[in-house]
Amino acid sequence: MNSPDYRVVLDQQGVESSVARLAAELSEKYHDGVVLAAVLRGSVPFLSDLSRAMSIRSVVDFLAITKYERGTGRVRLLKDLDIDITDREVVIVEDIVDTGLTSGFLWGEFSRRSPRSLSICTFVDRPSARMVPVELDHIGVEIPDEFVVGYGLDYRGRYRNLRMLASVDADILASDPDAYVEALYVS
Ligand code: IMP
Repeated sequence: MNSPDYRVVLDQQGVESSVARLAAELSEKYHDGVVLAAVLRGSVPFLSDLSRAMSIRSVVDFLAITKYERGTGRVRLLKDLDIDITDREVVIVEDIVDTGLTSGFLWGEFSRRSPRSLSICTFVDRPSARMVPVELDHIGVEIPDEFVVGYGLDYRGRYRNLRMLASVDADILASDPDAYVEALYVS
């Protein structure tokens, strides 16, 4: 079977320059260091590159969320941060902001802990899917209403370790999750 078509949203160089720009923005903003609160698991490649590209001190911590019943629009913490963020400068690091449910939930949850400041840095923003309004302070790339994989973003666990970000057909993936393996992994 022929490999299905895909669109490169950001190639490896594009990914690297977006991360470098975001790292420069954060380094400029937080002179005294920052807590990077990363959402498992999709944000791990981004977090890893971002934290090393920054020229300021950072503390990294992880959290995981899960969705309640599909369609209820509710999420809850599956794993909380280990550190106390009271009076700290905190940046929530996300792979993609889609409906905004995750970011909106985390914003409410962390605001109650009285951080000195709180902001959101996402690698990908898909504003067309927004259900909950969220203010995004730092955005790597804005995409139209397309499903994307790579650079942490997966489809059922696949494609996370790609160095690029690609737009693929979600219907094709639904019938064959490996449909893009050949096209995206063999250069
Ligand atoms: P939210 O809808 O903004 O809460 O985003 C929830 C999560 O859905 C993200 O953190 C991703 O893990 C996943 N997600 C949303 N859109 C995509 C996509 O285009 N590709 C892969 N994962 C996605």
